[in-house]
Amino acid sequence: GNGHVDKRGALIVLEGLDRCGKTTQCSRLVSFLEGKGLPVEAWRFPDRSTNIGKIISSYLTDNSQLDDQTVHLLFSANRWEKRWLMENKLRNGTTLVVDRYSYSGVSFSAAKGLDIEWCKAPEQGLIAPDIVVYLDIFPEEAAKRGGYGIERYEQLEFQGKVAHCYKILCNSSWKVLF
Ligand code: TMP
Repeated sequence: GNGHVDKRGALIVLEGLDRCGKTTQCSRLVSFLEGKGLPVEAWRFPDRSTNIGKIISSYLTDNSQLDDQTVHLLFSANRWEKRWLMENKLRNGTTLVVDRYSYSGVSFSAAKGLDIEWCKAPEQGLIAPDIVVYLDIFPEEAAKRGGYGIERYEQLEFQGKVAHCYKILCNSSWKVLF
């Protein structure tokens, strides 16, 4: 380089069922990249710090009633509201390690029975990840882990349906880790 930032950061997405270990692996990856001297940030979706994120968080943690389509669009809007910041960070050379992204959005909503193409539509135009890492775990295994069952979607039967939807979305570019 000539002093300018001439290298875009990478958008690295980790996906998987609840309690698959994503959050742990995200922070390990961030530490590893930091150790290499790379500018890197840990991100996660939903980002519960925004107004939309707060609505999502209350939907997940208490019994606030929202219909499935509305919730789907809120999760998507939560990614859209961070899109411009994401683009700036990447342009400035910061690598982003993101805990959940559009694939969670589509899989969790499609698992409720919403049409998968309808679910994909609002994700069009968000920044495409450079790498998707899928942490593959049996739902039964995840259910044994601490804290399971606290939030709305942490139910064994539902997680099985989510896993099925992830498998529909998964393609050969994904890195699947067992
Ligand atoms: P978290 O536990 O990673 O914070 O995610 C909260 C829950 O929200 C988790 O069960 C996955 C679900 N989710 C969706 O349903 N749609 C989405 O777009 C995202 C990002 C997460």
